[in-house]
Amino acid sequence: MSRGEFLVYVDGEYIPRSQARVSVFDHGFLYGDGVFEGIRCYDGVVFKLVEHIDRLYESAKSIMLDVPMKKEEMVNTVLETIRKNGLRDAYIRLIVTRGVGDLGLDPRKCSKPSIIIIVQPMEPLLGREVREKGVKLIISSVRRDRVDATSHQAKTLNYLNSILAKIEAINAGVDDAILLDDRGFVSEASAANLFIVKNSVISTPPQTAGILPGITRSVVIELAKKIGYRIEERDITPYELYTADEVFLTGTAAELVPVIEISKRKIGDGVPGPITKKLIEEFDKVKRDPSYGVKVY
Ligand SMILES: Cc1ncc(COP(=O)(O)O)c(C=O)c1O
Repeated sequence: MSRGEFLVYVDGEYIPRSQARVSVFDHGFLYGDGVFEGIRCYDGVVFKLVEHIDRLYESAKSIMLDVPMKKEEMVNTVLETIRKNGLRDAYIRLIVTRGVGDLGLDPRKCSKPSIIIIVQPMEPLLGREVREKGVKLIISSVRRDRVDATSHQAKTLNYLNSILAKIEAINAGVDDAILLDDRGFVSEASAANLFIVKNSVISTPPQTAGILPGITRSVVIELAKKIGYRIEERDITPYELYTADEVFLTGTAAELVPVIEISKRKIGDGVPGPITKKLIEEFDKVKRDPSYGVKVY
């Protein structure tokens, strides 16, 4: 192991990052057959760890993948991986693949699911600058997968739907893309949930629009209610996006990000709005709060 190299948990072992491997016969690699979580640790507190673990097991249940570890042990293994790397601020990627099988699809050929935990220092994904300046989006021509298909309600290794939308955004020279559901209603961004504000009322698409039930999203809903804002989970049309006073995104990696343009329409005044800013401020307060997570040390 070269000095300073981070350790990755792979099926019970802590392996230096440059040597951490999965088999080319792992169905996670061959078919995107597996589930994952992206989690953050702020100042020694893993934000909403139990909720992330619950979601991981629900995603796994939905694809009939038995995670070969009890939830409590999974929580402890995540904490131990952070401790082994001596980190206080980290991004954690927890992956459970179907495991090694043959070249056919049949998951019964996979003897045991693999568990992988990667932790690394928390780089500011979009940076403070973006928080202040906001991001530009397009509405993608790629539709979110149907809720009766490879729905993003489950956080699986199948992200091609989001990747195609992201490619479209890159080609259009903007930061990210919004996907509509199969009915034409707003679903979410490639890897973040979406909120709009109109006349001081906050709205966000429901799970029936094929969204990932985001953990940041539920914290923001809770914070907005606490402050006293009216908040609704309801279907949102593209027209409502273009004419909103404010739009913002939420996600573990991105946190809260103001949106200032969508498909060349300026949102509100083209700068982050007051309700978005207030929620960013409130989120910053709770993200390090031990009562919102699990302490590592
Ligand atoms: C498709 C998708 N939607 C929404 C989110 C935001 O969810 P969370 O706040 O739980 O990170 C993510 C996060 O990775 C995502 O991949």
